[in-house]
Amino acid sequence: MESTISRTQYWHNEQVISGQQCPEGVRERLPAHGCLRASEAIGAWPDYRPTELRCLKALSGELGLSSLHYKDESERFELASFKALGGAYAVQVVLRDEIGSAVGRTITLADVAARQWPEEAAAVTVVTATDGNHGRSVAWGARRFGCACVVYMHEGVSRGRQEAVEALGARVRRIKGNYDDSVHAANRDGRAHGWLMVSDTSWEGYVDIPRDVMAGYTVMSSEAMDQWVMPEPPTHVFIQGGCGGLAAAVCVDMWDRYGEHMPRLVIVEPVSAACLLESARHGVQSRVDITTESVMAGLSCGEVSLIAWPIIAAGASDFLAITDDRIAPLMRRLAREESIIAGESAVAGLAGLIEARKDDRLWGRLGLTTQSRVLLFGTEGATDPEVYRSMVDEAD
Ligand SMILES: Cc1ncc(COP(=O)(O)O)c(C=O)c1O
Repeated sequence: MESTISRTQYWHNEQVISGQQCPEGVRERLPAHGCLRASEAIGAWPDYRPTELRCLKALSGELGLSSLHYKDESERFELASFKALGGAYAVQVVLRDEIGSAVGRTITLADVAARQWPEEAAAVTVVTATDGNHGRSVAWGARRFGCACVVYMHEGVSRGRQEAVEALGARVRRIKGNYDDSVHAANRDGRAHGWLMVSDTSWEGYVDIPRDVMAGYTVMSSEAMDQWVMPEPPTHVFIQGGCGGLAAAVCVDMWDRYGEHMPRLVIVEPVSAACLLESARHGVQSRVDITTESVMAGLSCGEVSLIAWPIIAAGASDFLAITDDRIAPLMRRLAREESIIAGESAVAGLAGLIEARKDDRLWGRLGLTTQSRVLLFGTEGATDPEVYRSMVDEAD
């Protein structure tokens, strides 16, 4: 089922499994014990505290919903994005394993956090690729736990995002091409230099570390469910998609907790990087070539994460792709009317919801009614303050 509404694209996943418990085959792709371990480790970081779940009353009324909530990641640690939970945690896991091999004994995540083996940690270099937030998280983890870090960035990543990573002590290497090219370059060079790849996306033969990254993300979704005060769970979750790691993590976590009452999961991507929508359309993991970088920098990925796809294929019912022109006005609106600092990628879910409201047929297809309780994840704040300012001002 497809429709194109004012350039917004829509696809319904006929294969979605709904109205039942999370199938074992889905749960085992992101096992509960891994999520629990991530939650314990991150919960022990001294600066950890849950971010706010905000109630958007006025917008909810305007859209004709029963309720609208926004999990506001703009104050997540000092990094202002949920990505802080994934990459940095995976660095902690990688160091536990590497130091354990170096010293020939089992060590714990708490030992890594306490920097019990500073020389062994300093001998490790982690490498990653980023369009901003993930690389910053890995660099932050490397500084926190005492190892070296190299971050690959494609030519479209803003200067401010590079400086933020460098300020954490990481070395930045610029490459030609797009995000997917930077992942390939980081992986290739990392192998050549003996650096350890800490990627937020996965591929054949490389799944364990991205799974730890995703386990870190579930801290955010679990917080949101703990903070949810209404007796009934959300009916819909609108979540932005890049490589799909975030959407898959939220999907498993919520399905596990809500079982047959799992909310309807709607994934929102930029039209220029709709690899998840294309995968759903073809019924198989598919890639798109990115020819134009979206302003939604964090979502500008053309290749789907291998471990994320089967989860999304089973648990996400709908896919929307939106155009860039929807973003700046919405950032401004959230700033002015709700005092929420929402970055370019953070507003995609809400932008998708608002686009759907403009088309009664699409609204109906998504099963949205006056009884709907919608949950959004505002995944970043002003992660590049200069870009943020220019977009909010440009919308004036
Ligand atoms: C702010 C923000 N939101 C959402 C995403 C999408 O996450 P994923 O690539 O895991 O789908 C990203 C990815 O970098 C991001 O930075």
